[in-house]
Amino acid sequence: MGVIGHPVAHSASPQMHNEAFRALGMDWIYVAFDVRPGDVKRALEGIRALGVRGVNVTVPHKGEAFTSVDERTPEAMATGAVNTVVVEEGRLVGHNTDVYGFREALRRAGLDHLPEKAVLLGAGGAARAVAYALGTAEGVREVVVLNRTWERAERLADEMGERTGRRFLPGPLTEDAVREALEGAGLLVNATSVGMHPEVDASPLPSPYALGPGLVVYDLIYIPPRTKLMQQADERGARAVGGLDMLVYQGARAFKLWTGMNPPVDVMRRALEEALKAGH
Ligand code: ATR
Repeated sequence: MGVIGHPVAHSASPQMHNEAFRALGMDWIYVAFDVRPGDVKRALEGIRALGVRGVNVTVPHKGEAFTSVDERTPEAMATGAVNTVVVEEGRLVGHNTDVYGFREALRRAGLDHLPEKAVLLGAGGAARAVAYALGTAEGVREVVVLNRTWERAERLADEMGERTGRRFLPGPLTEDAVREALEGAGLLVNATSVGMHPEVDASPLPSPYALGPGLVVYDLIYIPPRTKLMQQADERGARAVGGLDMLVYQGARAFKLWTGMNPPVDVMRRALEEALKAGH
């Protein structure tokens, strides 16, 4: 098992999966492969030839992996990104377990019933996984997609609306648009990279004043574990949840796909926390 990325040495996935193998007494191993852009197809053919069971795919290879596999799941099709490859009888099958990871993370945060209206900040790769997860979740009727580059928000909203049959509304990432979008919304998701280490004092919100009680704020960022946006949410009486669990559950899903075993989620979460602490 392994992960392909570039660079990839910082990845905490090896610790997470190797601890899981150890906990289950499995004689398996997960390693990091630094693969150059343009080499993804050959790398995947290599893992097939070597008898590797599968790999995770991380930045910047999720799109290249999408075009390199033999088959794609509906989640991979909807996001245009493959983050997990499983070799099934010689065929490379591309999955996107970020979609499942986000759904499970919400469940673990106590959001079994999703609100009718959600607001999504960002329109990149991470936002696509969240948009599809929300657009296929029970209970969600409307998702407002706000992004700095409004055209990307529009493109994502059009496509997800068509794909899921739910209402997706695009907008710019401005104070007025955020205030309007949050009216009647129960969930705000940050899928932009704003606030990520090392820019820890930045928030994707032009102003925090639209946040308030009754709102759940889910930040996909996990370094730092408590972002500026999460602090703003706490200060305004909203409930803030960080991105670690999405990482845990996308990994847990991949683990299940490769091994068929039930993933030891708590062991995986602890291993990730340790690895992230050691790395930063
Ligand atoms: P990922 O795959 O992690 O989603 P990405 O595709 O590069 O990465 O997307 C990054 C997201 O963060 C985008 O929505 C980006 O907005 P643009 O589409 O306008 O580029 C958003 N983002 C990054 N830096 C930002 C900033 N300083 N202010 C607002 N949004 C930002």
